[in-house]
Amino acid sequence: MTESVVSEPTSAAASAPAASAPAASAPVVSDSPASDSTAAAPVAFPQDRTCPYHPPTAYEPLREARPLSRVRLFDGRSVWVVTGRGTARDLLIDPRLSTDRENEAFPAPTERFAQVRNRRVALLGVDDPVHNAQRRMLIPSFSVKRIAALRPRIQETVDRLLDAVEAQGSPAELVNAFALPVPSMVICALLGVPYADHEFFEEQSRRLLRGPRAQDTERARDELDAYFHALIERKRREPGDGLLDELIQRQLSEGALDREELVSLATILLVAGHETTANMISLGTFTLLQHPRQLAELRAEQELMPAAVEELLRFLSIADGLLRVAKEDIDVAGSTIRADDGVVFSTSLINRDAAAYETPEELDFHRADRHHLAFGFGIHQCLGQNLARAEIDIALRTLFERLPGLRLAVPARDIPFKPGDTIQGMIELPVIW
Ligand code: HEM
Repeated sequence: MTESVVSEPTSAAASAPAASAPAASAPVVSDSPASDSTAAAPVAFPQDRTCPYHPPTAYEPLREARPLSRVRLFDGRSVWVVTGRGTARDLLIDPRLSTDRENEAFPAPTERFAQVRNRRVALLGVDDPVHNAQRRMLIPSFSVKRIAALRPRIQETVDRLLDAVEAQGSPAELVNAFALPVPSMVICALLGVPYADHEFFEEQSRRLLRGPRAQDTERARDELDAYFHALIERKRREPGDGLLDELIQRQLSEGALDREELVSLATILLVAGHETTANMISLGTFTLLQHPRQLAELRAEQELMPAAVEELLRFLSIADGLLRVAKEDIDVAGSTIRADDGVVFSTSLINRDAAAYETPEELDFHRADRHHLAFGFGIHQCLGQNLARAEIDIALRTLFERLPGLRLAVPARDIPFKPGDTIQGMIELPVIW
C-alpha cells in the first residue's frame, strides 16, 4: 500500500470530530411526488428533498413555470432557475454564461459556498480558454477506452469490499462499508493518491461540501491545499505512476501548469471523484430497494444494467443546482437574462421535464429517451462520467448478485439522507440480508 502523506493532523480542523451531518427532515418515502403547489413565490433554492429520490415538493411551482423562472437564494438574492431540458441545453452551451466564481456576481447557493467564492477552482470555476487548456490535459485519462481497462480493477475493489461485508455479516452500514470506499479507492489509484489517507480526505470533502459551519468549508480547502502541496513535493522526489505523477512530470515541469493550478485540479478530481459516485451507489441501492418491481427486472435481466444506471442517474439527479452568471444579456424562452444575473440549473426538474420524457416520475429502465443532464451539458459536462458509470454498474450489479436477500434494516423513513444544499445521497444505509 502507498505510504500516507498525512503524518499528523495539520491543524485543529483536521483533528476535529467528523462533521455531524445535518440530517434532512425525516424522509417521507413515497413512489410519487406530492402535488402540493401552494408554496408562496419566490421559491427558496436549494431546499431539502422530502423523499431522497424525488425533487423537493416545494419546487412544484417551478415545474409549472417551466422552462425558466426565478428562485430566492439564502442571501435573499433572486436568480433565474432553468427547469426545462431544451432551454438548459441551449444555455449550457452558451458562452455568454460563465462559471467564473471569482466574478462578484456569481451566485452563491449557501453561506458556505459564499465563504470560498473568491478562491480559484480549476476546471469547474474557469471559462475557456483556460478551462479548455486544463481539460485537454485530463481527457485521455478518462476516455471510454481507459475506463474500460480499469473495469477489472474496479471489480476487484468491489469484490474485496463485499468479502469484508459478508465476513462481518448482517447487519451492515453500507455507506461506510461499501458505497464510499469503492470510488475512493478507485480515484486514489487513478490519481496516485495514497488510500491510506482516505479518512483525512473523506472528512475534508464532507466539511467542504456540508459544513457544519461556513468556516469549515474554508478550513477544509486549506487542509486539502496543504495536503496536495506536500504530496506534489513528495512525488517530485519519488515519482509514482498515477495521473498526478503524469501531470507533475509533463505539465508542471514544462510550465504548462503552475503549482496552485495543479493543487486545485487535484482537489476537484479527488473530491468530485469519490463523493458524487458514493452518493449514487448509496442512493441507487436505497432506490432499488424501494422499487422491488424494477429490482426484480434487473435481477432477471442483467443486460438491463447500463440502461438502469442511466435511468438512476436521471431519476436521482444527485448534483441538483449547477451555477452560472451571465456575462451579457441573453434572450431565452421569452425572457431576457441580464448581464450579471445569476442562473441555477435544477437538474432534478430538468430531468423530469414532462415535455421531454414520457412518465418522467417513473423509474423506467426501458425508457426510449435516455438523454439526461445528470452530468451537466456543454464544456463543463462531467469529466468523470465514464468512470462513474463503470463504478455504479459494477457496484450495484455485484452487490445485488452477492446479497440476494438485501433489504433495509430499519424503516425507510428512519434512514438519514443528505440535505438539499449538497450532493444528494444517504448519510447512512443500514441493511440486512
Ligand atoms: C455519479 C457521479 C457523478 C455525477 C452525478 C457528476 C456530476 C457532475 C456534473 C453535473 C458536472 C457539471 C457541473 C457544472 O456544469 O456546473 C460535473 C463536472 C465535473 N465532474 Fe462529475 N459527476 C460524477 C462523478 C465524477 C467523477 C467520478 C469524477 C472523477 C474525477 C468527476 C469529475 C468531474 C470534474 C473534474 C468536473 C468538472 C468538468 C469541467 O468543468 O470541465 N465527476 N460532474
